Amino acid sequence: MNTLKQEMKEFWGKGWGKRGQADKSVQSRERFLQELGAIRMLLEMEEGEQVREMQKIGLKGKAVLEIGCGAGSSSILFALDGAQVTASDLTDEAVAITKAKFDLLGLAGNAVQADAENLPFPDNSFDVVFSSGVLHHTPNTQKTIDEIRRVLKPGGNAVVMLYAKWSFQYLVSLLLMRGIIFGGIFRHGRNWLGHATELAWNTKEDRLNPMTKVYSGRQMRQLFKEFEIIGLRKHSFHWPDLFPGVYHIWKRRRVHLGDADVMSLSSFERVIGRFAGFALVIHARKLFK
Ligand SMILES: C[S@@+](CC[C@H](N)C(=O)[O-])C[C@H]1O[C@@H](n2cnc3c(N)ncnc32)[C@H](O)[C@@H]1O
Repeated sequence: MNTLKQEMKEFWGKGWGKRGQADKSVQSRERFLQELGAIRMLLEMEEGEQVREMQKIGLKGKAVLEIGCGAGSSSILFALDGAQVTASDLTDEAVAITKAKFDLLGLAGNAVQADAENLPFPDNSFDVVFSSGVLHHTPNTQKTIDEIRRVLKPGGNAVVMLYAKWSFQYLVSLLLMRGIIFGGIFRHGRNWLGHATELAWNTKEDRLNPMTKVYSGRQMRQLFKEFEIIGLRKHSFHWPDLFPGVYHIWKRRRVHLGDADVMSLSSFERVIGRFAGFALVIHARKLFK
């Protein structure tokens, strides 16, 4: 494994290690089911690909691979919807958390450690491959899309979310504010965007996210040029990301998640998200040939 990949594995692995210890959702089946209900409700309000594209495909009886499962919520939701799920992640820590969640609910899902750039699965083995917020953190993103195509059955569906370049979050909060005004670009050079994102994961020691990239719709289409493209859309605009603290201008719903209340998006944010949100989602199909 090259040094950058090793650095990434350590960064995410340490983060999941800490989060796994603090994760109270696995304390009881009832609590976990309640949290999953809240997560599903938030995803529906935020127009997440986990519910939009995946529901449209229909998961019952399908072999689904998730790449970069993290704490496993999406994979568990797919399994509850009747899919035969294989959850995968670069880190053993995320795999262990996801495995514990499958076990808690008595679901038959599988969780394995795997690098998206070299998937350890045979050709043509899945009906659906899903990945959200992952493949922009790995050096060779094109290789991961080629791997998705290889492991998909002909006619199989890929649903992938990468960060959007033409978004308020990137252009204003990241590039203008953190990159130029606060000098991230000048301090960190090439890796400035990695260091400016996933802030909740950074520690006060010296652990900074090694890599994040952003994509335009055109670049996303280019990544998937060997597929039939079914849909390409954006979502996820959070007003407080632009003006921290300014939360209550538009009406929003509180959803109780774990020990805290989470604010859903307002309808204003949902509409802006469709034009300039940070999540760029593609739904593509592997061609029969
Ligand atoms: C921001 S988290 C997203 C987790 C989850 N998809 C979610 O939406 O909550 C990014 C995840 O991608 C994983 N990851 C990063 N590079 C990867 C790679 N090359 N192969 C597989 N997983 C990777 C990390 O270990 C981490 O769990």
